[in-house]
Amino acid sequence: MSFIEEKNSCKKSVLLLMGSHRSHKNTAFVADKIKMALTDQDLDVTYVDVNKLDIKHCTDCGFCHRHYGECVFKDDMTELYRLMKASDHVIVLSPVYMNTITSRLKVIVDRCQMIFICDFVHKRPFVDVARKGKGILVSIGGPRGYKDQFYGNELTMDLIFKNLRLPLAMHKTFAATDHVSLWDRNSEVEGIVEEIVGEVIGIEA
Ligand SMILES: Cc1cc2nc3c(=O)[nH]c(=O)nc-3n(C[C@H](O)[C@H](O)[C@H](O)COP(=O)(O)O)c2cc1C
Repeated sequence: MSFIEEKNSCKKSVLLLMGSHRSHKNTAFVADKIKMALTDQDLDVTYVDVNKLDIKHCTDCGFCHRHYGECVFKDDMTELYRLMKASDHVIVLSPVYMNTITSRLKVIVDRCQMIFICDFVHKRPFVDVARKGKGILVSIGGPRGYKDQFYGNELTMDLIFKNLRLPLAMHKTFAATDHVSLWDRNSEVEGIVEEIVGEVIGIEA
């Protein structure tokens, strides 16, 4: 598919979903570092930039109630469903926009209603319930930390990770990009990337 930037041929797979509406700023900077670090560990990383996706909004049409594991729309979400199901781990990175995830990510999240409906209506999970992977979330905010700055991101993404049977194992946050960009905070970024890699490798152990 055209939006998939890279696919290596290593053993375990990670879907890395870069949720900023800017393809080359703070969120992408961290996502690139994670991709490099995981690839160095012999993991097969698929990097998806939300800006390259053409995905329609869920219209609550009910098609997925009548057709197990299928959405009425055949767009880039079809490949994303496949990746969410097939990848061993999923890492989502999102800036905070108005106290929650970005709207491009939210469109993807809403389309995951089809996955929920597999459980709720069809009583047949979309994913392998015995999968052993984890979900990891990275959130980035502009102002210096304030109360509940990253809470909306976690609340929304936790729901999706539950539907995917990938429990949220780690939520890492960066505040204050309005003041200092992440490419000028290399040791902080490297530290968090190391923790994320440790978490993924730990899952494998
Ligand atoms: C529409 C919009 C809404 C935002 N709302 C918030 C917010 O509610 N809380 C926050 O901490 N940062 C907020 N920000 C700041 C971004 O999270 C911050 O600039 C972040 O670095 C953007 O990620 P990027 O650099 O990868 O594009 C907002 C930015 C935009 C453009």
